[in-house]
Amino acid sequence: MVIGVLASGKGSNLRVIIESIKSGSLPVDIGIVLSDNPEAGALKIAKEKGVKALYVPPGRHKTFLEKEVEKKYVSALKEAKVELVCLSGFMRVIKEEFFSAFSGKILNIHPSLLPAFPGLQAWKQAIEAGVKFSGCTVHFVERDVDAGPIVMQAVVPIEEDDTPETLHHRIQKKEHIIYPLSIRLFAENRLRIKGRRVAVL
Ligand code: GRF
Repeated sequence: MVIGVLASGKGSNLRVIIESIKSGSLPVDIGIVLSDNPEAGALKIAKEKGVKALYVPPGRHKTFLEKEVEKKYVSALKEAKVELVCLSGFMRVIKEEFFSAFSGKILNIHPSLLPAFPGLQAWKQAIEAGVKFSGCTVHFVERDVDAGPIVMQAVVPIEEDDTPETLHHRIQKKEHIIYPLSIRLFAENRLRIKGRRVAVL
């Protein structure tokens, strides 16, 4: 199966996905990496590792891509024969062009135990709320932000002296385990969406 990765930031999840493919534990190919940020670490990692990567200018909006720009993203993914889109720290809400081209074929990783703390800086929200545990969630992407059916979650404790940075670091270590694993389950055709729930065969 060919996957496409969309990333705006440092790209640690992309790195782990590439390493998992190389070590043989993730049976997919990355067709293309797309970014809305020309400085994204993810673009550098892709180039270093010999994975095709492209900066696609995001247009004039800050939080989403306008229709014409979405079309460019979708056609780059289609041209690369992508069958599963993996959002990996992509900082824009995706809309109709993506949903009509890749319905049920878009995954995201979010740094909290959804439905708690959707939105930005979820690790900071968790500390501010005083919860004792947080974690990360891989979910299918639907029109509501950070709200689609959940594939997998991992839990981390929150320590008294945690800062947003130390907690995010602890959460990311778990992301690096559950994202490749979830992508693998999808590639092996073992995920079935039943309403709000995802069954793993
Ligand atoms: C992760 O914390 C992920 O949960 C969130 O964005 C961050 C991306 O991190 N959606 P990286 O760029 O893969 O290191």
